[in-house]
Amino acid sequence: MELKKMVGYKAAEFVEEGMVVGLGTGSTAYYMVEALGKRIKEEGLTITGVTTSSRTSEHAQSVGIPLKDIDEVEKIDVTIDGADEISADYQGIKGGGGALLFEKIVASYSDKVIWIVDESKLVDKLGAFPLPVEVVSFGSGQLLRLFEKKGYRPTLRTDEDGQTYQTDSGNYIIDLEMNEITNPHQLGEWLDGLTGVVEHGLFLDCVHTVIVGYEDGPEVKDVR
Ligand code: A5P
Repeated sequence: MELKKMVGYKAAEFVEEGMVVGLGTGSTAYYMVEALGKRIKEEGLTITGVTTSSRTSEHAQSVGIPLKDIDEVEKIDVTIDGADEISADYQGIKGGGGALLFEKIVASYSDKVIWIVDESKLVDKLGAFPLPVEVVSFGSGQLLRLFEKKGYRPTLRTDEDGQTYQTDSGNYIIDLEMNEITNPHQLGEWLDGLTGVVEHGLFLDCVHTVIVGYEDGPEVKDVR
């Protein structure tokens, strides 16, 4: 079985009757949504989904997962999402798929956060994967210059038609080529303090369980 599918289906086993479930975005989270749809049909499982992107909303609806807006639920019991990189101390980079803002909001109102990845996403230190930074369009050129001066080799993300990529909130994404992030907390705080930055893809101290897909099966690691 494909590793992404393996961990997506494994993670769906963690969902229990009556739960409010945060549904992540990306090609790995896709399988978790598919698996939950199957459990609803085959076991009569009753859950409510809170999605992290318009893409996931469409998919979840198509497989029969009842959805609520994040503001309609008291809290989220568990959120299951993919990640682009996970360091040895379980910090993460997310946002390769452009959904980092909603993903971080949903994660921060969740009792438990599960990341599902194939083994290729595990790294010693973060930074080989370009760090996504979501910015408002106004002044985004100034932020590009600032990042350039810092040596972060920024790129304004474009879509498949070569147009500037827009997030579900209508913002832009600047990807930073950091190579190695020596102090993720310091970098995260600096980015948080920049006017015009809406959110960044450093997901720090937020994951509880990581499910890693290896050729010989999934490994569940409880990390906090
Ligand atoms: C979406 O914005 C991202 O945070 C994804 O969760 C992340 O990019 C992982 O995606 P894949 O599962 O497609 O690799």
